[in-house]
Amino acid sequence: MILLLSAAFFIGSAFIITDYKEKILGWGSVMVLQYSRSKMCETQCRAYGSEALPRGIISETSDLEMRPLWGAQNKKKPKLSMNLLAIAVGIKQKENVNKMVKKFLESDFVVMLFHYDGIVDQWKDLEWNDRAIHVSAVNQTKWWFAKRFLHPDIVSEYGYIFLWDEDLGVDHFNAKRYLSIIKKEGLEISQPALDPEKSELHHPITARDKNSTVHRRTYKVIGRTKCNENSTGPPCTGFVEMMAPVFSRASWRCSWHMIQGDRTQKIGIVNSEYLIHDALPTLGGSAENKVRAS
Ligand SMILES: *[C@@H]1O[C@H](CO)[C@@H](O)[C@H](O)[C@H]1NC(C)=O
Ligand SMILES: *[C@@H]1O[C@H](CO)[C@@H](O)[C@H](O)[C@H]1NC(C)=O
Ligand SMILES: *[C@@H]1O[C@H](CO)[C@@H](O)[C@H](O)[C@H]1NC(C)=O
Repeated sequence: MILLLSAAFFIGSAFIITDYKEKILGWGSVMVLQYSRSKMCETQCRAYGSEALPRGIISETSDLEMRPLWGAQNKKKPKLSMNLLAIAVGIKQKENVNKMVKKFLESDFVVMLFHYDGIVDQWKDLEWNDRAIHVSAVNQTKWWFAKRFLHPDIVSEYGYIFLWDEDLGVDHFNAKRYLSIIKKEGLEISQPALDPEKSELHHPITARDKNSTVHRRTYKVIGRTKCNENSTGPPCTGFVEMMAPVFSRASWRCSWHMIQGDRTQKIGIVNSEYLIHDALPTLGGSAENKVRAS
């Protein structure tokens, strides 16, 4: 039996599912998951509209590979593992985005930029510009783009999807090492820890713990909640922040549809690869933006 994962995103306070509703309101920038053997996805994730067509004609999935306009297709050997980085960007963050993208290209990621300021031309001088896929829509957030342009059938070739904000400092982050850690740890949804000394921290669980490679819970006292090993949900365990989530293929399929898994096991923070969050007010998907995701 396949364990199907599904996630609930809480974007702004706009889009909410299941019985977590009350607990979650106010958790504007957080992503929460439940893990369960859910039948919901078996029906929800079926290739809708393809039922009447014979096998052999339908192609249920696609990818974001670019193809030549004419001439033969590049007969590249399919890569064993492909991963995707998608960032919502504005021209003001060009310099930092350049740093981020270069890091990921080194690790053979497919890169997609969502331009929320409508400015696409001014990226042309970057040497990787033509290798990236650019999507432009003015004043839209990361989640708006992701819902429309990262349909699970389109991105099903990718092992992991990094859906990141543009203001993340990646000096201490290595994508290949990160991937090997989350694979080994079985994290379906994860984020790199944040350097607590240099980042604006909104949630204690995201702070880097230098003593461990990965953590899945915090033991701090948060407001009136004393987190301990028995805690089963936010703010103690089971969530990552919205600014730098990383989804496995399976979790993205159901996250995209929004839904449910064992969040205490399948969600965690990677300490050995960590970020600095500049906390710039951007349209990338920060808590301040009240956003509708669908
Ligand atoms: C986008 O947002 C900016 C700032 O709020 C506003 O000035 C501009 O008119 C908006 N553009 C569109 C096309 O909505
Ligand atoms: C990490 O280990 C050091 C030394 O053992 C300890 O003092 C510190 O409290 C630990 N930090 C965390 C976050 O557990
Ligand atoms: C966690 O639960 C166990 C079993 O019910 C209990 O013995 C333990 O005291 C609890 N720990 C805390 C910190 O509440």
